[in-house]
Amino acid sequence: MAESQGLTLTVLGSGTMGIAIMGGVMATLAESRMRENLPSSSAPKDTAPEQLPAKFIACDMRIEAEETVKKALGHYNFPLTTLTNNNTEGTKKADIILLACKPQGFKDILGAEGMRDALKGKLLVSILAGVTQKQIEDFLYPDGLPEGGCRVVRVMPNTASFVRESMSVIQTSTPPLSDQQHKLVTWIFNSIGRTVSLPPASMDACTALCGSGPAFFALMLEAAADGAVAMGLPRAEAQMMAAQVMRGTTGLVLNGEHPAILKDKVSTPGGCTIGGLLVLEEGTVRGNIAKAVREATVVASQLGQGVQNVNGTRR
Ligand SMILES: NC(=O)c1ccc[n+]([C@@H]2O[C@H](COP(=O)([O-])OP(=O)(O)OC[C@H]3O[C@@H](n4cnc5c(N)ncnc54)[C@H](OP(=O)(O)O)[C@@H]3O)[C@@H](O)[C@H]2O)c1
Ligand SMILES: *[C@@H]1O[C@H](CO)[C@@H](O)[C@H](O)[C@H]1NC(C)=O
Ligand SMILES: *[C@@H]1O[C@H](CO)[C@@H](O)[C@H](O)[C@H]1NC(C)=O
Repeated sequence: MAESQGLTLTVLGSGTMGIAIMGGVMATLAESRMRENLPSSSAPKDTAPEQLPAKFIACDMRIEAEETVKKALGHYNFPLTTLTNNNTEGTKKADIILLACKPQGFKDILGAEGMRDALKGKLLVSILAGVTQKQIEDFLYPDGLPEGGCRVVRVMPNTASFVRESMSVIQTSTPPLSDQQHKLVTWIFNSIGRTVSLPPASMDACTALCGSGPAFFALMLEAAADGAVAMGLPRAEAQMMAAQVMRGTTGLVLNGEHPAILKDKVSTPGGCTIGGLLVLEEGTVRGNIAKAVREATVVASQLGQGVQNVNGTRR
C-alpha cells in the first residue's frame, strides 16, 4: 500500500462517535502494519481500497474537544490535526469527510460559507441518526446534484462502535458510489465492526435490528442473569457469565453455525436445555422478540416522517 499518498480523513464533530471511528481506523491501520512485518501475510487485499486514510483532522466547535481527541488518539502516532470552529479548513484538506455532529447540527455545518466549495468532488459520510441522505443532498444542492458536487453516503453505526463491534449499515446510493469510494466506506466501518450494504427502503428495519437491538439483547442478558441470581449465583459473576455466553453464541453463529442446529446440538434427550427451551416457547418469546423488532421498525418509520413520540401501530 502506497502510504506516502494516503488519504486525509476529516471528522466534523469530534464527540464520542467521531473519536470512536477515528480510533478504529487508526487501530486497524496499526494492526495491518504489524501484520505486514510478519513472514507470511495472506490477508485478502481485493476488498481493500487502493488508498487508505493516513492523515486525520478532527474538527469541533468546542476548544476542549482538541484535548479529548489528543488524549484518546495521540498514542496511535498518526498525523492528527485538531481544529476548533474551522470546519471549512478541515474539509478543504480532506479527501473523505465524516459528519458526526448532533443530528440537528448539519445545516449549520454544511451551510457555512465556503463549505460547498470545500466539499467539491469529495465523499461525505453521514452517521447522523434520522437524517436521510436526501435531506443532506437537498440542503447542499437544492437545484440538484451539480457536476463535480460531493457524494453523500449515509451509514448507520450502532453503540457497540465504542468496543469496535458495531453492526453498521451502509445505505446504497443512486447512482452507485464508485468502486473505490464504496470500498473505502466499507473499510472504514469494518474497522469498528461489521458492515452490510442495503437500500434506503431497508433503513427502518435496520434501525430496529441494529440500533435498538443492543437494548433488546441487554434485556435478555439481564433476564438470564436474574434467573441465575435467583438460583444462588452472585450478581457480578452471573452478569459476566450471561454476557460471555451471549458472546460465545454469537461467535458460533457468525462462524457459520445455524441457530436451529446449534440449539439442537446442545439439547440432549431428557436434558435441561430442552426443558428450558420449551419454557421459552410456552412464553411465546420467539414471537415477541420478532414483534419487538417489527414495532421498533414501525416507530422508526414514523419518526422518519416527522411524527413525534409515536407508540407504533397496534396490530
Ligand atoms: N452514539 C451512538 O451510538 C450513535 C449511533 C449511530 C449514530 N449516531 C449519530 O452520531 C452522531 C454523533 O453522536 P455522538 O454520540 O458522537 O454525539 P456527541 O458526542 O454529542 O458528538 C457530536 C460532536 O459534534 C460537535 N459539534 C456540534 N456542532 C458542531 C459544529 N457546528 N462544528 C463542529 N462540531 C460540532 C459537538 O460539540 P458540542 O458537544 O459542543 O455540541 C460534539 O462534540 C449523532 O448525529 C448521532 O445521531 C450515534
Ligand atoms: C482555519 O485554519 C487555517 C489553517 O490553520 C487558518 O489559516 C485560518 O485562519 C483558520 N480560520 C479560522 C476562522 O480560524
Ligand atoms: C399513545 O398511546 C396512548 C394509549 O393508547 C394514547 O392515549 C396516546 O394518544 C398515544 N399517543 C400517540 C402520540 O399516538
